[in-house]
Amino acid sequence: MKLAPITFLLTLTLSPFIQATPAVEELFTQYRQKGIQEFSADLGKNLYFQEFKLAGTGEIRQCADCHTPDLRAQGQHAETGKIIEPLAPSINRQRLLDIKEINKWLKRNCKWTLGRECTAQEKGNLLTFIQTQ
Ligand code: HEC
Repeated sequence: MKLAPITFLLTLTLSPFIQATPAVEELFTQYRQKGIQEFSADLGKNLYFQEFKLAGTGEIRQCADCHTPDLRAQGQHAETGKIIEPLAPSINRQRLLDIKEINKWLKRNCKWTLGRECTAQEKGNLLTFIQTQ
């Protein structure tokens, strides 16, 4: 537990230097053009852990179902069982590099999880949260 204050200080010191990838930077620009002014990692985190009740079956779904509550951990697809490499860019350097890939999966995953597509605000918040992981 002695390490906790140091970890906290390090987090405080390093967090302003988290760099958005060019792909995420470009997506933020697109979202801003739609009138979104600020992106919140906290709101993105809330959304990531929010549980959505599926109309019809009443099944509960959240992003963590496949990507796990720890974004630095390896995930597993809730339906197919397929291994999903960690979502956190700090662990997985292949993350958040390709706009098409990000758009494709955000669209598919929001539909699966929320039962609808995410708004530009929600996507901006989610990406802001994910890139800090
Ligand atoms: C049913 C399983 C599942 C759920 C639930 C899920 N995802 Fe995914 N996600 C995947 C798979 C599969 C991929 C593509 C394989 C990969 O990138 O490793 C992926 C890829 C992504 C990517 C692309 C990352 C990149 O670097 O291109 C993002 C971003 C993402 N998911 C975010 C989310 C968010 C946010 C949620 C909740 C709204 C969510 N996912 C819920 C399965 C899921």
